[in-house]
Amino acid sequence: MTGRRRTAVLISGRGSNMQALVAAARAPDYPAEIALVVSNRPDAAGLGYAREQGIEAVAIDHKAFADRATFENALDTVLHKHDIDLIACAGFMRILSAAFVEKWLGRLLNIHPSLLPAYRGLDTHERALADGASEHGCTVHFMVAELDAGPIVAQARVPVLPGDDAATLAARVLIAEHEIYPQALASIASGEIAL
Ligand code: GRF
Repeated sequence: MTGRRRTAVLISGRGSNMQALVAAARAPDYPAEIALVVSNRPDAAGLGYAREQGIEAVAIDHKAFADRATFENALDTVLHKHDIDLIACAGFMRILSAAFVEKWLGRLLNIHPSLLPAYRGLDTHERALADGASEHGCTVHFMVAELDAGPIVAQARVPVLPGDDAATLAARVLIAEHEIYPQALASIASGEIAL
């Protein structure tokens, strides 16, 4: 292998998917290294976890910027400063502009808690339950300018069980997220899958 791909994980909150990626990247033969964690929210719990693991963790508070473009410029600068090659969004709750996505096209991933193309956007678990869906799941995809619409890299299905509410269903989906995201990142970092 020609060096592990330097990967940044973008978060906004607890960062359990980021933790799953960090755990997977501890394996010496994992083709990506989690070199940076960035949160747009300074209070994101995941920042503390990353620092405890000795990973560079940076808050870039979007509220401190006049508009999306200046926030994204700051983000882009930090990514380049850390020599980042791949970006994995994991519970990152900011929309990235078409200009930013274009710069990172093919190197920018996201995990979404539904079986895309079903349930793009927010409140996926509530919407699946309201529809009486019998199965639900999660998707890792390349990001494109259109929200939650990029080419699919990996998916996992989970059943919707009698008595489920959004919280129990989300918890079941999250277990699957933690399995497929490390696998998907590995297949992109190794070059096995490309846009
Ligand atoms: C995950 O369900 C992710 O798919 C969604 O937001 C949640 C983030 O969880 N976009 P975590 O911060 O990775 O724990």
